[in-house]
Amino acid sequence: MKLKSGWLGAILVAVGLFTMLVVIGCASEAAAQERKVSVLRSELPAVIKKAIEEAFPKGQIIRIEKEVEGEDPGQYDVDIRLGAKEYEVEISPEGNVIEIKEMTAARGDLGSEQGKKWTDSFGQVDVLIAYDSLTGNTERMAQAVAEGVKGVPGAVAAVKRVSKVTREDLEAADAIVLGCPAYYANIPGRMKTVIDDWSWRMKVDFTDKVGGAFATGGGQMGGKEHVVISLLLFMINNRMVVAGPLYQDEEGQDIWAEAGAGAMTGPIDPGVGPKELDSASRLGERVARLAVKLE
Ligand SMILES: Cc1cc2nc3c(=O)[nH]c(=O)nc-3n(C[C@H](O)[C@H](O)[C@H](O)COP(=O)(O)O)c2cc1C
Repeated sequence: MKLKSGWLGAILVAVGLFTMLVVIGCASEAAAQERKVSVLRSELPAVIKKAIEEAFPKGQIIRIEKEVEGEDPGQYDVDIRLGAKEYEVEISPEGNVIEIKEMTAARGDLGSEQGKKWTDSFGQVDVLIAYDSLTGNTERMAQAVAEGVKGVPGAVAAVKRVSKVTREDLEAADAIVLGCPAYYANIPGRMKTVIDDWSWRMKVDFTDKVGGAFATGGGQMGGKEHVVISLLLFMINNRMVVAGPLYQDEEGQDIWAEAGAGAMTGPIDPGVGPKELDSASRLGERVARLAVKLE
């Protein structure tokens, strides 16, 4: 009898442990699976906009995220400022407000974590990264620019092919970063036609938007810098203010800037490497930081 109860106890402990492991495993799997993307104000569906306007008629949107994978796919998490307070609002894809949370503590945490101060004029800035790419090199650089933007509190990045960019995207953007491959040491004709039309046909007002540029090219001296300068000149001609990535030496003494970010992708140094992605990320960070300052 003593033996039997000993066995029974051991079995119960084993079952308990197994159940715990399964529960922990499921929970961590669910948490790991959650993925959100940043969304521009111009990309908000009408039902979501309406829900925000009804809940906070005088609120200012400072950040928008959409859950793409996880427990509530399609759900929007919107941070809103109203007076001195900030709120996180969860909205279902159908436009129903699920939860409103005041987030004073979270704001404090973010401020100290990122070494930046939140102020009342610290709203969301939208940074649009528009690129042209046939074989994926420039697209990788565009994603790295977005990573740099995301490191700046208050800045939201959207990455789009130039051919997909709408007038609304351009008008809503506080900053625009353009990137493309070098084609015969120049901006590819198909991209030049598109961006010329933004100004010439769409009549987008680019005045005082912050700009930056990046390029990839197969060769070492294949014209990447010329492409970056051409893109920056397009921006300056359209009344934008432009900037390149910042660098600092290891001691933090010497600091310098470059005209833009670039990657050599041809046989001498194939593909896009970590240092080139770092240049793109620095570009995104610099442009976003300036846009936040100007906001
Ligand atoms: C039509 C054409 C012209 C090109 N001209 C140049 C050039 O002048 N200089 C250069 O460095 N690379 C040149 N390249 C190589 C591309 O710039 C390079 O492969 C680039 O990384 C491609 O970017 P993607 O992968 O985003 O399309 C050219 C490629 C093509 C297809």
